[in-house]
Amino acid sequence: MRATAKAHTNIALIKYWGKRNEELILPTNSNLSITLDGFYTETTVHFKEELDRDVFILNEKEISGIPYDQVTNHLQLFRNYANRQGLFAEVRSLNKVPTAAGFASSASGFAALSGATAKALELELDEPTLSRFTRQGSGSACRSIYGGFVQWEMGKLDDGSDSYAIPIAPQDHWDLRVAAVVLTAKEKDVSSRVGMKRTVDTSVFYDGWLESLPRDLEEIKVGIAAKDFEKVGSIAEANCLKMHATTLGAIPPFTYWQDTTMSVMETVQQLRKDGTLAYFTIDAGPNVKVVYLPEDEEKVLAQLNATNGVEEVIVSKVGKGISYV
Ligand code: DP6
Repeated sequence: MRATAKAHTNIALIKYWGKRNEELILPTNSNLSITLDGFYTETTVHFKEELDRDVFILNEKEISGIPYDQVTNHLQLFRNYANRQGLFAEVRSLNKVPTAAGFASSASGFAALSGATAKALELELDEPTLSRFTRQGSGSACRSIYGGFVQWEMGKLDDGSDSYAIPIAPQDHWDLRVAAVVLTAKEKDVSSRVGMKRTVDTSVFYDGWLESLPRDLEEIKVGIAAKDFEKVGSIAEANCLKMHATTLGAIPPFTYWQDTTMSVMETVQQLRKDGTLAYFTIDAGPNVKVVYLPEDEEKVLAQLNATNGVEEVIVSKVGKGISYV
């Protein structure tokens, strides 16, 4: 009763930003991401008759508190489904997502945990079902089941049975690069979970954000199919700016940006003025991800590395979906 799974993280080009059901993690909008090859989590789940509680070991260290509760709650979903109440597991995870890179390790983490747990229990879930389970750990994680370009279909049903990820284009469809620009962190973050809830509940800009999304999603898919980089990049960048604008209309207002975030945004805009196509996107933190084409790598990296406040730039290609070791 043991299995190991590996899953990569992902970066959203059309953001998931708000829940219509907190408990089941159902989003207010469909969204779309690229799975990245640079960052992943590898997790072994071992169910043992002799255990009287779950054990969670992350990067060789036993974990307690909220992360432990999240893992054990997630295992419980699978135990309930498999009718194996009272059977506990040792979970060992290795996280190759440098926390400094500003990627939530929750995406690769919950995808790998779900895959390994289902396999250890010999559940043989199809991918939509696995994505649905994964979604209940962390929303963005449901997209990491697949490689390449992935849409999380928001669904309409109250029980969440139609809310899961679907592949839009495979890993080898288009060789895009994503640079994770690591900045010197200044303040403590508002987590994505807290930030999105505050925005949904209070932001005067939230309705405008929601209204604009279906069109962004349709248009970006046209761009991805046609490999129209200018179209895809400009929609993604504008979508990111709109998401971040909602936080300024929240009560109390907040922003994930710091001055160095804006310096990187300026560098990217300057690259475009000078004729190099590159576009930024930003999640619930100060760090910036820059999307560009492989032939522009040298120019893009030189400018990013020369920007004030940049500590490190880590490059990813488009990554693959969940795999079993
Ligand atoms: C800004 O998936 O981390 O990165 O579902 O509450 O765990 P929970 O949130 P999470 O939120 C990700 C928000 C985002 C945009 C995105 O990845 O689509």
